[in-house]
Amino acid sequence: MKNLFFEHIGSQPADLVLEIGRMWAKDPNPLKINLGIGIYLDEQGKCPVMDSVKLAEQKLLGIQQSKTYLPIEGDLQFISESKKLLFNDESSFIVAMQSLGGTGALRILADYLKIEMQKPIYVSDPTWPNHHGVFKAAGLDVRTYPYYDRNTHTPKKQEFIDFLDTLEKGSIVVLHGCCHNPTGVDLDPQEWDLVLEKFQKRGLFPFFDVAYLGLGEGLEKDRYAVESFYKAGLEMCVALSFSKMMDLYNERVGALMIVNHSHSIEAMQSTLKQIVRRNYSNPSAHGALVAGMIMKDHDLRSGWLKNLEHHRLRAKNMRHLLFDALKPWIQHKKEFLHGNGFFSYLGIPQDLILKLRKESIYLLDDSRINVLGVNHANIPILKEVFERIGHG
Ligand code: LMR
Repeated sequence: MKNLFFEHIGSQPADLVLEIGRMWAKDPNPLKINLGIGIYLDEQGKCPVMDSVKLAEQKLLGIQQSKTYLPIEGDLQFISESKKLLFNDESSFIVAMQSLGGTGALRILADYLKIEMQKPIYVSDPTWPNHHGVFKAAGLDVRTYPYYDRNTHTPKKQEFIDFLDTLEKGSIVVLHGCCHNPTGVDLDPQEWDLVLEKFQKRGLFPFFDVAYLGLGEGLEKDRYAVESFYKAGLEMCVALSFSKMMDLYNERVGALMIVNHSHSIEAMQSTLKQIVRRNYSNPSAHGALVAGMIMKDHDLRSGWLKNLEHHRLRAKNMRHLLFDALKPWIQHKKEFLHGNGFFSYLGIPQDLILKLRKESIYLLDDSRINVLGVNHANIPILKEVFERIGHG
């Protein structure tokens, strides 16, 4: 007789973002359109390798002598260059480690905060759905703060700021450094300044998720929030992703950083290292070596900055292209065009989203779209389908 140990196991709902990608991939229609997952797509609908990345990879192949383990904290050049990229500074107050993409950084930081802070963590309403999953899995008490007004497609600035006033000291608040996911609706510098004031006054702990640096208003402007909190002397943590910044999606390149002014850097490092050691021991090398080389080497870096700027401008252009095609369905026209980065809510009803799927056009259930899913070849198809089925 066989012993069956998994006869009564439960199952979990599929991840909302990845499931749409899977449905799109399975669809045999050659004219299918992928407005789902947040990846950069070019005019041919392909997610390319940046030429600066190709060059760095060739260089790396030529000089690499060994594939021995990286230290638990990751590649040192990558870490120090990541700090400079984000904070414009390499201060010893910043504890930084390589991570498995931005999600890996979120999880290691969440595990750390669970051990050291025992405070609730607030995410924006709405936020990237996996924020809830990652923080809950780490055992944190996840709550939400008001952020986005669905009726006006703008941030609920005042409500957000007033809400911060009600939080207990030490509460952790997750902020999207730029290019808010899923809404594409960001605060402007003056609004960030007001938020910063509240964090100082209330003693709140900022936790920045930075996944789209350079893809909103450009590198300098996109790091405004993180840099100004840092310059104001706040302790905070940051999860930084290189997936979109360098198109290194499947290399899982990210960094986690904690700004700490308590002179307890070594203690902090020891706990972070223990968390990593007990999870995956130490990170993989290839993507981080490439990213580190790109940030450090003058020529590679200037090539990458051009690639990044090209991506950013393409996102802006595709947003306009999409806007022109779908104008009748976009309620808040000015606000839509004002959106930052890859995403926006289209604000169309659920039944239309499902009908679109039957026509091989894929967007998320909440109507989030990745504007880079369109190009000059597929935009007439999208327009035709909306005109045919989109009028209720
Ligand atoms: C997205 O929001 O589409 C991206 O961040 C990809 C992901 O892992 O969800």
